Amino acid sequence: MSQGKKVTLNTGQQIPQLGYGTWQAGPGEVGQGVYEALKVGYRHLDFAKVYGNQREIADALKKAFAEIQGLKREDVFITSKLWNSQHDPKVVEAALDDCLEELGLDYLDLYLVHFPISFKGSSKHVGQDLFPLTGGNQPVGDCDIDDSISIVDTWKAMTKLPKSKTRAVGVSNHTIEHLEALNKATSVVPAANQVERHPRIRQDDLVAYCKEKNIHITAYSAFGNNMLDQPLLFTYPEIKAVAERLSKEKGDQISPTNVLIAWAQSGGHSVIPKSVSPKRIAENFKEIDLTADDIREIEQVDKTQRRYNIPYVANKPRWDVNIFGEEAETPATHKVII
Ligand SMILES: NC(=O)c1ccc[n+]([C@@H]2O[C@H](COP(=O)([O-])OP(=O)(O)OC[C@H]3O[C@@H](n4cnc5c(N)ncnc54)[C@H](OP(=O)(O)O)[C@@H]3O)[C@@H](O)[C@H]2O)c1
Repeated sequence: MSQGKKVTLNTGQQIPQLGYGTWQAGPGEVGQGVYEALKVGYRHLDFAKVYGNQREIADALKKAFAEIQGLKREDVFITSKLWNSQHDPKVVEAALDDCLEELGLDYLDLYLVHFPISFKGSSKHVGQDLFPLTGGNQPVGDCDIDDSISIVDTWKAMTKLPKSKTRAVGVSNHTIEHLEALNKATSVVPAANQVERHPRIRQDDLVAYCKEKNIHITAYSAFGNNMLDQPLLFTYPEIKAVAERLSKEKGDQISPTNVLIAWAQSGGHSVIPKSVSPKRIAENFKEIDLTADDIREIEQVDKTQRRYNIPYVANKPRWDVNIFGEEAETPATHKVII
């Protein structure tokens, strides 16, 4: 079976460019989804502590390694993420242990700092209270932000994690400014930065910076993002038109999601579409090449409909932190502590 396109990380590891995502994959569907993805041929899986589904995934992985002919742990590139309530350097390794235990794995291929912010209470119970709220015993409103832990503190702890437990470390939702701070403070350049990236959020400056520093980009929410309750990009007439034209030109069924996946991959990035439907998991597992003209046509949607992922606006309970320096985040009272 074809294992798809791969690129090399700054650690020397190979990462498949087409992976499978698991956010919002609920109980009773996430395990089946992971199993189907492996059966179809995905060899890059994206998990996270905060998705709350790693135990069901553990069962699916166990079943897949037992049942899918020839499939071994080392054939699959597995990523998971340190949550915001686990940023205290004292608990970073224990958090990884907890993550491995949930997944039933001995090691990860890549462990990411999920967001460049810390929630309070991270030293307690390995940060198992994932969304500590302000207001103490009578919690109200926002997530309780811990401004005493900087992203550099957490990154230093990440760089000391044993290779036996995670082959590489990286970050997610980090801007150029955040990456600069990490790179100045340590000699370990993150292997990857996982960020929201699709034709409405091209991230050109960040992509150029990461290319220069040899930081791999993984695109999340390549079809848009369910958080803002807006139509996903595969419903856009511009994307559908490209899919229809390419289907005719290539004499093959190319779907709008195939077009968006190919756009996200172009330039050597990886992409991790999520679906819990076996039909859509299979449909998405197709890698096509795009011409420069195709790419320009797809990027038309950016001209009128640009936006950025803004946890400040979208999360409930709210995260009162300006992460990306976007206009909509200016009312936030906390900033990223570098
Ligand atoms: N690092 C971070 O902060 C971060 C943030 C967000 C996401 N992520 C990662 O990135 C992954 C992907 O992002 P995402 O989950 O936001 O969104 P996505 O992959 O861009 O889109 C998922 C949505 O598209 C639907 N879908 C998938 N394939 C389809 C198809 N062929 N036709 C029609 N609908 C289709 C899915 O529904 P069905 O499941 O019903 O098919 C789901 O509603 C996540 O699962 C997660 O692993 C990381």
